[in-house]
Amino acid sequence: MPASTTPQRKIFVTTALPYANGKFHIGHIMEYIQADIWVRHQRMGGHMVHFVGADDAHGAPIMIAAEKAGRTPQQFVGEIAAGRKQYLDGFHVRFDNWHSTDSPENTELAQGIYRKLKAAGKISTRTIEQFYDPVKGMFLPDRYIKGECPTCHAKDQYGDSCEVCSSVYAPTDLINPYSTLTGATPELRSSEHFFFKLSDADVVEFLKGWTQGSNAQGQPRLQAEMARKAGEWFEAGMNDWDISREAPYFGIEIPDLPEGAPRKYFYVWLDAPIGYLASLKNHFDKGQAKDHWHEASRTPLGFDEFMADPAVEQVHFIGKDIVYFHTLFWPAMLQFSGRKTPSQVNVHGFITVSGEKMSKSRGTGIDPLKYLSLGMNPEWLRYYIAAKLNGRVEDVDFTAEDFMARVNADLIGKYVNIASRAVKFIPDGLLAESPAHPKAAGLVAQIRALYESRDYGKALREIMAFADEVNLGFDSAAPWKLVKEGKRAEAARVCSECIEAFKIMTACLKPVLPELAAQAEAFLNAPSLDWSNAATPLGAGHQVGSYKHLMQRVEDKQLDALFEPPAAPAAPEPEKVVPGGEELAPTITIDDFTKIDLRIAKIVNCEAVEGSTKLLRLTLDVGEGRERNVFSGIASAYKPEELVGKLTVMVANLAPRKMKFGVSEGMVLAASHGDEKAEPGIYVLNPWPGAQPGMRVR
Ligand code: MSP
Ligand code: ZN
Repeated sequence: MPASTTPQRKIFVTTALPYANGKFHIGHIMEYIQADIWVRHQRMGGHMVHFVGADDAHGAPIMIAAEKAGRTPQQFVGEIAAGRKQYLDGFHVRFDNWHSTDSPENTELAQGIYRKLKAAGKISTRTIEQFYDPVKGMFLPDRYIKGECPTCHAKDQYGDSCEVCSSVYAPTDLINPYSTLTGATPELRSSEHFFFKLSDADVVEFLKGWTQGSNAQGQPRLQAEMARKAGEWFEAGMNDWDISREAPYFGIEIPDLPEGAPRKYFYVWLDAPIGYLASLKNHFDKGQAKDHWHEASRTPLGFDEFMADPAVEQVHFIGKDIVYFHTLFWPAMLQFSGRKTPSQVNVHGFITVSGEKMSKSRGTGIDPLKYLSLGMNPEWLRYYIAAKLNGRVEDVDFTAEDFMARVNADLIGKYVNIASRAVKFIPDGLLAESPAHPKAAGLVAQIRALYESRDYGKALREIMAFADEVNLGFDSAAPWKLVKEGKRAEAARVCSECIEAFKIMTACLKPVLPELAAQAEAFLNAPSLDWSNAATPLGAGHQVGSYKHLMQRVEDKQLDALFEPPAAPAAPEPEKVVPGGEELAPTITIDDFTKIDLRIAKIVNCEAVEGSTKLLRLTLDVGEGRERNVFSGIASAYKPEELVGKLTVMVANLAPRKMKFGVSEGMVLAASHGDEKAEPGIYVLNPWPGAQPGMRVR
């Protein structure tokens, strides 16, 4: 359909809101590039788009990370937020607004949606039992509880599932559970929780229809594989969703609780997607959404009016790990609070780097800021990622060789170079009369449709196939020979055709390569290219500018540098501090260290030593099938009964030593300050729960 007859769409587009406890990694950047390409494609079709993002600020992990960093959660989140812009600008990802879920807009919207759900009878309360860390004074999210797997008895498994045998269970099923925050044994405590009644028949009915159905534009809301997945979830049955958390929690307060009742907060996943609306509202309230006006009064349209317009589409881009939240909880929340539900939820797979999964701790593979700081062109990455993406939920692997090949051989070799080769044979840059390219209109329509369905890889393959034809035409016409033969006009005509083709390709690549396209438009003296003028020839007599090189090739050494592990942080200025009141001992080798055999020991008995105020007599089990007698100078710090039953660390291969009170068969490890008078106190080492007597410490 030609652009002029397509009614203008109004689209509200989002990407998942990143947790505000970490910098962007290449996975985030991939998602933003995918969405940004789609948005640019829509705008080239003359459609109206609001593209917004925000930081996902709330939840227990962020609260705990902030505490560790010695910051308030707001400070902590603010520091992360301040770092976002350089990534987004750097990769030409052009959000119209970036906001936070920790904002007045989100509080208002979340509380409003909750009240609507409550009025609709979709909120219930129930008292549940949950683990509580008595040391930390808080209820523990599952991920902060570890213990022995009830199925395979593997130690140190998380509270929800076992990494060894993959069984899934409740944290209360763990054997010998402990809090990973303090090591304390959690206690079961009950408290009242709020639930969103997802299991209500009308909610399930709605969701079945919604996940399997089509939107107002007649497209399926979900990709086929995601609709199938939702079907499986319905088979398994819907449970009500626990949406409340007890204090302390960094989140939005649940409103309308009875006077004097303890404060409760929304679970972070309740207010996180509402953050999409909050960011859009913030965008409108700032007066940035300038393209929306009341026709009659010419006053700007508000957020509520925009969202109330049935023609407005709401499109989310997300990764495959958060589908449940976006295809069940989120549409149900919106529907039963009387709001617009998403028109499309577009799910992508994960990016791996050389086959390796992203790891938060190791921060795998490609650091986006390092990429930019090496002077690598952001559009190489946009092109490469686009080349690997399709509309399905498939993972994408980044490899250095593949990246080089696609950028250098395809993008530069086939597209960029044709312009420089052709323009040389066009006197004064004045285009000759050349027939309109027979494939132009068809190609543009096809590419447009492929962007629409997020089949970017296929779009780029089609553009490159077209580029191959153009290059082949150029080579077989051999304009350099024509010139030698005196057929200058013929050479100019052939090359004008190539320039016209270059212009079409530029338009087709523009959603992926906005900067390169802008430079190419400047060189071509073309109007700003969009889908309506992409296939229109510049025409005979149009004068193009002089060619400036449009894009450098990727170099091996850049990729080497990109993958070089980060240098160890520079050693801090040496400052004369003596740790613990004692100079460090001279350096030893690992062999020196392994000579010392440290073992986990269980203190099976402990008693005072008659005639000594310093010593305690310990009976230790090191898993040898016998017990050891060890004297330790810790009587000033511990009462014998405090130590019985505890685990500690001992030197197990120390030669036995005869003492006044008996033979000591080893040494227990304890910490103390070098100057006991300045800082008295002795602290026996105690391993984290899960260690077993006899395990070696290394
Ligand atoms: N805060 C939630 C989303 C709330 S949306 C209302 C969250 N944040 S996240 O930072 O962990 O992830 C943000 C997005 O990045 C998600 O869509 C996630 O799927 C995506 N990715 C995280 N790792 C990824 C890759 N390795 N590859 C591609 N996308 C990945 O989830
Ligand atoms: Zn297990």
